[in-house]
Amino acid sequence: MLVSGATGLLGQGLLRLLRESGEHEEVRCLVRRTSLTSRLGELDTIYGDAGDAASMVRALRGVDAFVHIAGIQYTPQVLEAMRAAGVERLVMVSSTSAHSRFELRSAPRLTNEALLVGSGLRWTVVRPTMIYGSELDHNMHKLLRFLDRSPVFPLFGKGENLWQPVYYEDLARGLYAALTVPGTEGRIYDLPGARPLMYLHLVRTAAAALGKRVRIVHVPAEPVRRALLLTERLRVPLPVSSEQVLRLREDKAYPYDEAREELGYSPRGFEEGIALEVRRLREIGLVR
Ligand SMILES: NC(=O)c1ccc[n+]([C@@H]2O[C@H](COP(=O)([O-])OP(=O)(O)OC[C@H]3O[C@@H](n4cnc5c(N)ncnc54)[C@H](OP(=O)(O)O)[C@@H]3O)[C@@H](O)[C@H]2O)c1
Repeated sequence: MLVSGATGLLGQGLLRLLRESGEHEEVRCLVRRTSLTSRLGELDTIYGDAGDAASMVRALRGVDAFVHIAGIQYTPQVLEAMRAAGVERLVMVSSTSAHSRFELRSAPRLTNEALLVGSGLRWTVVRPTMIYGSELDHNMHKLLRFLDRSPVFPLFGKGENLWQPVYYEDLARGLYAALTVPGTEGRIYDLPGARPLMYLHLVRTAAAALGKRVRIVHVPAEPVRRALLLTERLRVPLPVSSEQVLRLREDKAYPYDEAREELGYSPRGFEEGIALEVRRLREIGLVR
């Protein structure tokens, strides 16, 4: 099988699983010239880029399936390469952002997922929520490092919106099941964490995992959003957009009955997952 995104957080979770089940010898990883290939150990690697179909055609030669983790935005190139290489089985990683009411978030996922329907391939899509679990994640390790250093945490709004982050190894198990369990072709699976929790509780749980109590200072979100909107109209470039502040208030909670029933998907709760991440960050000296 060919795997893209193997050097990233989910990719590393999948590789660990494949090593444990002794199937890593069947794996070839698509890597860029800039990729940190030391993360791949002894695995077979081939240079290419998900944005370049020709390089993926070379990488796909002789494999039976493509697990494409590196980004759903590359679907047109992936489809072109798979057709040219004659590989039929594809597992694509999308995102639960496909459910967002903000079109800017959902449209790119939905448009690319739609390309798979009628592609003639045997495809399966998995949609993770926010992924966490190590220093490679995009959000939680930064939150933990902040909480480790600051006794105060500024929080936009009341923090009552729901989140359901997924621990990367649980997600990897769901992804692997999507590839291997019979009957998953043509299916789209949401793969969130075990249960939704309010952002406020998420922050408190993360602080507790560090053995800390944090004082949360609520920053009213609406005036901030309005100020951002005004500055955007004046075309002043800012690091945060008014839409991002709105999105912070969107609930990101998803049932996963289909994944549970069809993939045997059984993710752990946030309390357990974040404790594992704290242990990992302590081991490498990122938090105290
Ligand atoms: N992170 C989240 O919270 C989240 C939430 C929902 C969905 N997702 C989706 O889940 C997938 C995995 O996320 P992740 O957090 O594990 O990703 P990640 O840690 O950011 O890693 C991204 C991986 O993709 C590779 N990659 C990126 N662009 C590439 C390209 N043009 N050609 C080849 N390889 C490329 C990177 O390789 P290099 O080593 O060369 O950089 C890296 O291995 C992504 O598709 C992401 O959109 C993520």
